[in-house]
Amino acid sequence: MTEKHLHELMEQMTLAEKVGQLVQLMPDFFAQGGEITGPMQQWQMSETQSYQIGSILGTHTAEQVYTIQKQYLENSRLKIPLVFMADVIHGYETIFPIPLAMAASFDEQLVEHAAELAAKEAAEAGIHVTFSPMADYVKDARWGRVLESNGEDPTLSSVLTAAYVRGYQGAQKQLSKDKKRIAACVKHFIGYGAAEGGRDYHTVDLSDLEMYQNYLPAFKAAIDAGVALVMTSFNTVHGIPATANQPLIQDVLRKKLGFEGLVISDWAAVAELMAHRVAADGEEAARKAFQAGIEMDMMSDCYLNTLAQIITAAPELQQHLDHAVYHVLQLKDALGLFDDPYRGLAAADLAVHLDPAIRRSTREAAERTAVLLKNEGVLPLSTSQKIALIGPKADSTDILGAWSWIGKKEEAVSLKEGLIGKNLDLSVLPYADEQALSDEYIEEACKLAQHSDVVLLAIGESSEESGEAASLTKLTLSRRQDVLIHKVAKVNPNIAAILFNGRPLVLSDVEESCKAILTAWFPGSEGGHALANLLTGEVEPQGRLPMSFPRSVGQLPFTYGQLSTGRPKTADNQDQKYISRYMDEDNDALYPFGYGLGYSSCDIEETTVLTISAEQGIFEVKARIVNQTDRAHHTVLQLYSKDLVTEVARPVRELKQWQKVYIPEHSSLDVTFKINQACFAYIHSDLLLKNDPGKIALYLGFDAKQAKKIGEISI
Ligand code: NOJ
Repeated sequence: MTEKHLHELMEQMTLAEKVGQLVQLMPDFFAQGGEITGPMQQWQMSETQSYQIGSILGTHTAEQVYTIQKQYLENSRLKIPLVFMADVIHGYETIFPIPLAMAASFDEQLVEHAAELAAKEAAEAGIHVTFSPMADYVKDARWGRVLESNGEDPTLSSVLTAAYVRGYQGAQKQLSKDKKRIAACVKHFIGYGAAEGGRDYHTVDLSDLEMYQNYLPAFKAAIDAGVALVMTSFNTVHGIPATANQPLIQDVLRKKLGFEGLVISDWAAVAELMAHRVAADGEEAARKAFQAGIEMDMMSDCYLNTLAQIITAAPELQQHLDHAVYHVLQLKDALGLFDDPYRGLAAADLAVHLDPAIRRSTREAAERTAVLLKNEGVLPLSTSQKIALIGPKADSTDILGAWSWIGKKEEAVSLKEGLIGKNLDLSVLPYADEQALSDEYIEEACKLAQHSDVVLLAIGESSEESGEAASLTKLTLSRRQDVLIHKVAKVNPNIAAILFNGRPLVLSDVEESCKAILTAWFPGSEGGHALANLLTGEVEPQGRLPMSFPRSVGQLPFTYGQLSTGRPKTADNQDQKYISRYMDEDNDALYPFGYGLGYSSCDIEETTVLTISAEQGIFEVKARIVNQTDRAHHTVLQLYSKDLVTEVARPVRELKQWQKVYIPEHSSLDVTFKINQACFAYIHSDLLLKNDPGKIALYLGFDAKQAKKIGEISI
């Protein structure tokens, strides 16, 4: 439709119909064929109102979408189609590794392709919009939602966030034609990851400088990539919940970042303004959220039941209402819903057709995202070894992760199932998930370990232990898995731990007891097959940590990119008291950002830093990477910088660029990084992004800690 047509449509709408467009509800409201059920009664929603609402979230099947849309169109006066949204976070029915794992690929193409395939499956199930990507900046692994993030580095996160948007949405302005793509909603604006104590939904108090420097860039990347929606966060920022925070939505999101799409609240967040105690009742909550700029109220009855009277009492808000409604209609139009409300669904064929190619892609993604943290000659496995597979994750299909609500555990490939396909001398002692390990099991495990050459210990988190509302104060292994490791290590030190986790864990004990550690994350539907390929060495582990693994919970929040302090701990002042350190723990991470091993290795030789144009601020870094081993190697070469003198305190290191490289055995590779000085711009105290002249030190290496200084440039 043209802008004119959309405005003509709006002219026909009553106030109630306009308000309805701003309401998003669950499908339950329609499940009984229009009959008023549970929550609808509680919210006193009339049948007329139900045929005015704008959107549904969380449907499960194409059939459900088709039925609801049909029923809605038959009963609504203006027949404006519903837009269906859902959390398609790392796959719809076929599940990819969790986003934190996907970030370990350091590979935007992989992420973009995965998002495209997830969009295809979701679109075939009638979904029009996904509540993804999550662009939250994170540095606190106690917060379970780090699972859904791209990790702790704002540059990596920005690149991957944009890749998700491109993957879901496809080329700009093609959503109406390309019905295998869906619109993306970047979330949570803003600061959600900074919850105090890592406790979900808790208070956030964020300086503007920190927000502009670290929290906004990934949102800006999504907006620049054309993201259709932004979801606000549950938390407060500067004392005001983001959902009622006018300066944040109007000044920062709209003006500063230039977002022109639809702003949606998070689940019930408008009503929760009452719990925050910034609104006395639903009407005040609706008014505050609406005036702040929330255009769609997800799962609360505040807009539904009070917005019309708010507008009637304050006609100056009418224009504001029209803007919001226009954004909803514009989204529907962009999706092509006015021409085809079913977006390609046909009554005659609403069955699920899973594409095996998507499954293959999830396997490849799992292979490329697992991170080998330690390996003292235990991996890869060989067919001549007697191998014991034990631990709660040995035959578990709880490997999909917290956001796999449509994915079926029964269809996931467990580690055991994957390994059985290989020609190994394997004995398995599986254990039911979710329970503390019994003494009997541990005893049996020790017996089996004693008579084996290698022990594969499949351990980690259950999917409920990370994700939303899964904050933890302890990040060591739960459910007596520590006891299992210690006891098994006593009888057989040749242990390779296969770790299933949604967040960085504290692995100091595991590190002491195991000779190898492979982090599988929640690897998705094909996890077992991917891991079997990795463990047998058919595929080399290639993942690199997108988030530091701390030594202790007390170090959190933690990032490799910490700011310079007045009293830094250095190699020369370790014993002094009045420096920035812990008395009982090192400052650094156990496994740093960017870290990960392969089955082979390479060295960096002959680095050169060149100034191509001092005037234009263009530089180049060249390096020769040499693989002297008998095995080909995949790695991620990482370029970090440190601005030597700055106006505001800056990180001790910042990732600027990276390249995934593949080097065949006994060969070398020349790699070039092209650098523009714009990448050294930073947020100053006036909140402006600018360069200032001075020297920048450059570091090159394979992780944030070990990267070595290779020179300085002047900008
Ligand atoms: C709450 C979560 O915070 C958000 O990320 C999600 O998209 C919504 N629920 C909808 O399920």
